[in-house]
Amino acid sequence: MAVEGEAVAAAYALQSRIAAAARMSGHRIVDAGRGQPNWTVTEPRAAFFRLGLFATSEAERNSTTHVWGEMPPIAGIHERLLSTLDADQPGQGSAFLRSAVQFAIAELGFDPDAWVHELVRSVLGFGYPSPNRMQPHLEKVAQRYIVGFTGSTLDDDHRFDVFATEGGAAAMTYIFTTLQVNGIVGPGDAVAVATPTYTPYLQIPTLQRIGFSVVEIKAASHQAYRFDERALEALRDPRIKVFFLINPGNPDSRAVTPERLGDLVALVERDRPDLLIVNDTAYATFVENFRGVTAVLPHNVILLHSFSKGYAATGNRLGFIAVNHDSVADRLLTAMPAEAKERLRMRYQAASNDVDRMPFIQRLLVDSREVALHNIAGLGTPDQVQMTLFELAYLMPEGATYVTGARAQLQARLGALYEGLGMAAPGGRDSHYYGMVDITTVARIRHGEELVERITRAMAPEEVALRLASDSGVIVQTGASFQGEPWDVRLSLASITQDEARLIARAFVQLVDRLADELS
Ligand SMILES: Cc1ncc(COP(=O)(O)O)c(C=O)c1O
Repeated sequence: MAVEGEAVAAAYALQSRIAAAARMSGHRIVDAGRGQPNWTVTEPRAAFFRLGLFATSEAERNSTTHVWGEMPPIAGIHERLLSTLDADQPGQGSAFLRSAVQFAIAELGFDPDAWVHELVRSVLGFGYPSPNRMQPHLEKVAQRYIVGFTGSTLDDDHRFDVFATEGGAAAMTYIFTTLQVNGIVGPGDAVAVATPTYTPYLQIPTLQRIGFSVVEIKAASHQAYRFDERALEALRDPRIKVFFLINPGNPDSRAVTPERLGDLVALVERDRPDLLIVNDTAYATFVENFRGVTAVLPHNVILLHSFSKGYAATGNRLGFIAVNHDSVADRLLTAMPAEAKERLRMRYQAASNDVDRMPFIQRLLVDSREVALHNIAGLGTPDQVQMTLFELAYLMPEGATYVTGARAQLQARLGALYEGLGMAAPGGRDSHYYGMVDITTVARIRHGEELVERITRAMAPEEVALRLASDSGVIVQTGASFQGEPWDVRLSLASITQDEARLIARAFVQLVDRLADELS
């Protein structure tokens, strides 16, 4: 897989041309390009703002001067919060905030005052993030959320340390850097990437010109499952140090099936106990009864998560990295040769008295601020609070309406799209966040194989997206920009309404019919 920076730049340039063509089309733009939700999740947000108001009033009430607020005392703060919320009118985030606070006390055994005090302190941004990785109670909520959304069991094998980050994008950057600077992937090694994939993962080889090769693990095209039976076999190659897997995927939104997960477990246990799997779970909460790699290979996984999709928080920049208490990454660091350890002692000496034993997750944190600024690392504490409220929303019974409702809405959009195309949806375990459409399939259904041949002879695949934009104002992304099938385009179902999904299907059908005339 030779993906150079220029190819990625060309994909971004093409996307700008597609957007420009849609703007010039004279049609209303229907933007199914970028994968951002067209909704917001109100209850955990309202709870965040309500908590902020409580925190500022507590700070003012407990201050020794009118000039500023001061941190309120811990004793009795839980009771003060509950009685404040009880006096509220319904519908201001107070019921949800009350439930969230009480749920964590009941489920995680939190001391009520210590928990509420941490929430108040954090929402006020009072003090640097401390510990830098994550506030202690907030990390415990994240740990429980991880067990919940990955379909794991609550046991010793699934104990993770969490590092809250500025979205999945920052998490990705930190992981790439720390793997590289620690020599976990180096010259002569290889990494595997499940393709098609989200563009930043295609840039791994260009970000790190250090002489390793990239092996592509290709997904099956337009099937109800993600990988063919023998697709994961390539991972037996011991030169492959890291496997980058988005599950459920982007652009193809399918989840790895239980059968393939079983194959992966067998392969790792028998041949590759040293394999690290960077598992991006940005879309996991959209799959009912999701059970991912974290559930079955917790020690091998470096877990990456984002709230941009699941909790419609693209603007918040919320995500995290989680690494197991007994991680393969730490075992690999312990087994490093002496000269590598010496080099790493030099790198991290400002951050630890015992670099040899410094865990991988701590290295991620320290590297995130170029080591020297490690003591001011970490995600803003108010952001950590919003993240925690999203996590509690997922875990609490009160949050189920959103989780199941969002899944149903996406599925309905996919249904509208495929119905309009006259095709059956691929089915299977899917986040339904994206739809993939191959114009040659639509052409075959409507006009037969001959039109498919004419299209593939006369057109470049990228012209499909450009024509959808210029003829109908529809913005999509090309499969090629994700290293996918050339005639596929990706639609972000999260970004459009059900009516717009129908309109896009119509635009496809009209384009195919027009091509039948033009190319006759
Ligand atoms: C698989 C995957 N991971 C991460 C991200 C980015 O996450 P964030 O918005 O939290 O930076 C995306 C965005 O499209 C994505 O598709």
